[in-house]
Amino acid sequence: MGTGHYFWAIFYFTSLCSASLANNAKINFREKEKKVLDQILGAGKYDARIRPSGINGTDGPAIVRINLFVRSIMTISDIKMEYSVQLTFREQWTDERLKFDDIQGRLKYLTLTEANRVWMPDLFFSNEKEGHFHNIIMPNVYIRIFPNGSVLYSIRISLTLACPMNLKLYPLDRQICSLRMASYGWTTNDLVFLWKEGDPVQVVKNLHLPRFTLEKFLTDYCNSKTNTAQCIYIYLSVCVCELLLLCVYLCEWRN
Ligand SMILES: *[C@@H]1O[C@H](CO)[C@@H](O)[C@H](O)[C@H]1NC(C)=O
Ligand SMILES: *[C@@H]1O[C@H](CO)[C@@H](O)[C@H](O)[C@H]1NC(C)=O
Repeated sequence: MGTGHYFWAIFYFTSLCSASLANNAKINFREKEKKVLDQILGAGKYDARIRPSGINGTDGPAIVRINLFVRSIMTISDIKMEYSVQLTFREQWTDERLKFDDIQGRLKYLTLTEANRVWMPDLFFSNEKEGHFHNIIMPNVYIRIFPNGSVLYSIRISLTLACPMNLKLYPLDRQICSLRMASYGWTTNDLVFLWKEGDPVQVVKNLHLPRFTLEKFLTDYCNSKTNTAQCIYIYLSVCVCELLLLCVYLCEWRN
């Protein structure tokens, strides 16, 4: 065998080696992710019917923090006394059972697309008349599990909500519509909803509303001290500004 052959053999061998090493590193990483998922959610490991414990593993209620992004307000109808919105809705809570080793920061989070794999808060919109999820092309939902056991659930939804309007002063009035949320089955002993600290509600810039203008919004809590389900809500204050201008004009004309 000549030295040329010898050189090429070594070259070939080393390149094979490095290629398989690189492959191995990648495969190991994905496999790690699968291993972690099997470890925390595998058969017999996790029961999605059991709620997470309270803060620091106590017996207190599970705390779920809510925030949402108003993507659009499609309609406000004073005839049907309802309005419809499209939201990105997020809930975040800690489930100690889902903690995992992040392999020196390489596993930032795990993503699930099936909500039934982990425990989920049973929140519902109590003034909802109609609602739907977005399923084009795939359901617009994800669940992220962070190494510290924090779970983030994010979903895009469209809702039509009841908004009883007081039309006594019509059309000069300012209407207040709300978005109310509560747990369907848990009491405050087990589950507490809180608004996310900071900026829990964001509204898309350049929100266009036919006839109405969104003046302001407020987040709040229902003030029930009983052991019933806790409820949180947003007030949206809208005013009929266009009509207001029209009326000013008419009033002036009448004088
Ligand atoms: C939970 O534990 C952390 C760190 O040990 C502590 O700072 C925090 O005050 C605890 N919170 C509660 C509500 O006990
Ligand atoms: C856990 O980690 C996530 C993502 O880094 C963070 O948003 C969350 O606040 C953390 N939760 C706790 C309880 O430290």
